Amino acid sequence: MPDTASPSPVAVAPVLITLQLNGEPTSVAVPPHWTLLELLRYGLGLTGTKQGCDKGDCGTCTVRIDGEPQLACLTLALEVRDRHVETVEGLGVGGEPHPLQEAFARVGAAQCGFCTPGMLMSASAYVDNLTLQDDPVVRREDIAAALAGNLCRCTGYTKILQAVEEVAQVVLDRQREIEESTAEEP
Ligand code: FES
Ligand code: FES
Repeated sequence: MPDTASPSPVAVAPVLITLQLNGEPTSVAVPPHWTLLELLRYGLGLTGTKQGCDKGDCGTCTVRIDGEPQLACLTLALEVRDRHVETVEGLGVGGEPHPLQEAFARVGAAQCGFCTPGMLMSASAYVDNLTLQDDPVVRREDIAAALAGNLCRCTGYTKILQAVEEVAQVVLDRQREIEESTAEEP
């Protein structure tokens, strides 16, 4: 009789990686098959990043890697070795909420809130990238495109777009004021 028994699973040793996580140097041992989402939620206890579809469809697991929005469920944890990862826990500064978080709360852009962390991370990347453009203009269609990978089943999106639009405009206005006052200096 041929031996048809399944081979026993082989234990794979965790791999030690280092990364910058929300601005802090972080070393962590990670099973090599884990996604970044598993590392954040189950290895590091950062449950702000949500686990929705787990297959790249909903965007609720969005984090920023080296500044760009990425899906943590489709990223292997080993891929973020020596890179900068930002999660919603690192969005505010000094215990204060980020202006986007304030705006979401103020205009009612979050209902159940499950999509909100991912929305915030995509929105923060949009706002940051906007300030780097030569002649930046806030357009609702650009915001919608930036958030296109983030699904929300509660809000109908209008309030989310409004919140991001308001913050982006405030940030741009402030940037212009600084540039103008700098240009006027003798
Ligand atoms: S959980 Fe990652 S895209 Fe849905
Ligand atoms: S607020 Fe519920 S899914 Fe967006």
